[in-house]
Amino acid sequence: MFFKRKRGWELPESMATDESVFLQRRKLIKTLGAGPILLAGAAPAAAAAKMVDPTADLYPGPRNETYKLDRPLTAEKDALTYNNFYEFGSHKKISEAAQKLKIRPWSIKLDGMVEKEIEIDFDDLVRKMQIEERLYRHRCVEAWSMAVPWSGFPFRALVDFAKPLSGAKYVRMETLADKETMPGLRQFWYPWPYTEGLSIAEATNDLAFIATGMYGKPMPKQNGAPLRLAVPWKYGFKSTKSIVRFTFTNKRPLSFWQVIQKREYGFWANVNPKVDHVRWSQATERVLGSNKRVPTLLYNGYGDFVADLYKDMKGERLFT
Ligand code: MTE
Repeated sequence: MFFKRKRGWELPESMATDESVFLQRRKLIKTLGAGPILLAGAAPAAAAAKMVDPTADLYPGPRNETYKLDRPLTAEKDALTYNNFYEFGSHKKISEAAQKLKIRPWSIKLDGMVEKEIEIDFDDLVRKMQIEERLYRHRCVEAWSMAVPWSGFPFRALVDFAKPLSGAKYVRMETLADKETMPGLRQFWYPWPYTEGLSIAEATNDLAFIATGMYGKPMPKQNGAPLRLAVPWKYGFKSTKSIVRFTFTNKRPLSFWQVIQKREYGFWANVNPKVDHVRWSQATERVLGSNKRVPTLLYNGYGDFVADLYKDMKGERLFT
């Protein structure tokens, strides 16, 4: 018998108050069809608006109603102007600097333990996938959070496309590292390029999502255009931006933050309010756009989807 358990965050749509505004805009964007990218922020927005994104017609995709929020969506202007993208500076106000990121052409490599290495243009890849919209929470390790309407496709679809060999256990993701456009790369003490990893079991979990857009439009540069990861049960640093390479491997990859400070950042990095960061508590989070603090939830509230992945991992450092 099919039995669907109601998950904690499957609450009425009416709880997401900001959403009526968002829905009205979705309608408007659909009516306009393929149009210029509309970015928040003054000067860079004007320049970017002149460029027509060749995939704009894909957005907004149909909403996947499985993923409901327990809180209002974050205002778009907040999600687009408070960022972590160290390639453009180690502070939150990088949205203007990130407009230098060159996102066309954008080539993606799928290599390592795969049947055959693939190099594919982003525009070709995205049209092979079924774009959908999902409302996800995002919890940064710095103890702030947001709730975002991502557009994109399941990571599982990309894994199927890559055809990894049966011995592959992990997938390593790598961000573009372009000295011409990314001033943060001058900070030579960081181990560029930004890399992250997931186990294949995690990458093929229902929740793991390759986001190519947000707020019903193609992904803004500052948020990781043209494609980034969204793994909402993990701390935000796992969600690699502007990915150029997926490498399938049987060795657990070392990530950017692990290399910098392994005492503070581990591989699994699942959200847990009871396991503090070495330097601060993870019990609560500041909701972006307000001064409100709310309790943090185990696996950021997504335990029904992912807790089983870790049940036999005794002795692993699952939460930092
Ligand atoms: N990816 C790259 N390449 N560089 C980064 O500095 N920061 C991470 C993650 N992905 C980061 C990255 C962190 S710490 C967070 S919280 C999220 O991106 C922030 O995503 P946002 O700017 O869309 O909120």
